[in-house]
Amino acid sequence: MILVTGGTGLVGSHLLYYLSLENDKIRAIYRTEKSLEKVKKVFSLYTSETSFFHKIEWFQADITQVPAMIPAFNNVKHVYHCAALISFNPKDYREMRKVNIHGTAIVVNLAIDAKIDKLCLVSSIAAVGDSLKGDVVTEENEWNKELDNSGYSITKFGAETEVWRASQEGVDVIIVNPGVIFGSGFWNSGSGKLFMQVYNGFKYYTEGVTGFVAVKDVVKSMIQLMKSDIKNERFILVSENKSFKDVFFSIADAFQKKRPFKKIKPWQTAVFWRIAMLISRFTGKPPLISKHSAKSAHSISKYSSEKIKKSLNYSFEPLEETVERVCRNYTNI
Ligand SMILES: NC(=O)c1ccc[n+]([C@@H]2O[C@H](COP(=O)([O-])OP(=O)(O)OC[C@H]3O[C@@H](n4cnc5c(N)ncnc54)[C@H](OP(=O)(O)O)[C@@H]3O)[C@@H](O)[C@H]2O)c1
Repeated sequence: MILVTGGTGLVGSHLLYYLSLENDKIRAIYRTEKSLEKVKKVFSLYTSETSFFHKIEWFQADITQVPAMIPAFNNVKHVYHCAALISFNPKDYREMRKVNIHGTAIVVNLAIDAKIDKLCLVSSIAAVGDSLKGDVVTEENEWNKELDNSGYSITKFGAETEVWRASQEGVDVIIVNPGVIFGSGFWNSGSGKLFMQVYNGFKYYTEGVTGFVAVKDVVKSMIQLMKSDIKNERFILVSENKSFKDVFFSIADAFQKKRPFKKIKPWQTAVFWRIAMLISRFTGKPPLISKHSAKSAHSISKYSSEKIKKSLNYSFEPLEETVERVCRNYTNI
């Protein structure tokens, strides 16, 4: 039996589709019936056959609630832990610690108790240390707690620490560190919002650089790593390092929309995030931009995926193709 947490999210739902193509039994954690509709939509992008979705045994639980989670581990041999809270709003920090660190600790403890064979954590490039001299970041980069890390990064690093504990307690582990993930079906959150904004005529761009990857490459490499003899390793998953400017332009071109045309300078975002935080304090609504998202809009970080390419002989889909497919799906559903 395979257990998937976060099965109703971007990564989890695409992962479930690829897992459903194989013969193993699959159990997936969900919180609300409504979120299952998103998974059905993602499956419908791949197939009109509903039997794949119905292969999944859905199990209602919150990963931070131990009693509810215990039965989810019955007969489980492999766990894909995709559930997390992603936010750059400082107000969400406590909740992120609860879900990302404490929730992962619960998954790890139950995995150890159930004597599962292998656990895969979806971490992030946000949990890999920066390169101080601007070199390309690899899995060997060390986390530096002295830096001004975002709450999200801190909690993803905390989740990794919990997973390494599992490896010391006899559970084989794999950690993947994807860049910004592009995939279809989640237009109101994460990178999906980026597609929606460009489609709706977003005017602004920055010249920061980061790593991007297609969701199908993330989930395919997770499955291959879990099936392989590779254990207790982490892998950066990035198909290309690109500037936000180039990526926004590609999305606009694929939608046949006007490209963003106003370049935002670092000082402008520095002013803007402060105003956004002030507005948020008065309105109680999440800020449009936070200090750390403003910083990453301009920072130049490049990531190496050489390790996964060599270990699995893996080749990533070019980002241009990913963007075209996601844009096609955006206009179709
Ligand atoms: N998206 C990216 O660009 C990106 C990049 C790098 C790494 N990652 C990592 O990839 C993983 C998956 O991200 P995603 O993009 O798929 O996020 P997502 O679309 O926001 O999905 C998050 C999933 O976690 C579940 N979840 C959250 N809190 C939970 C709780 N307390 N109990 C049970 N389930 C809970 C959500 O359930 P509901 O449906 O009920 O809310 C949802 O299924 C995360 O670990 C994230 O850090 C994402």
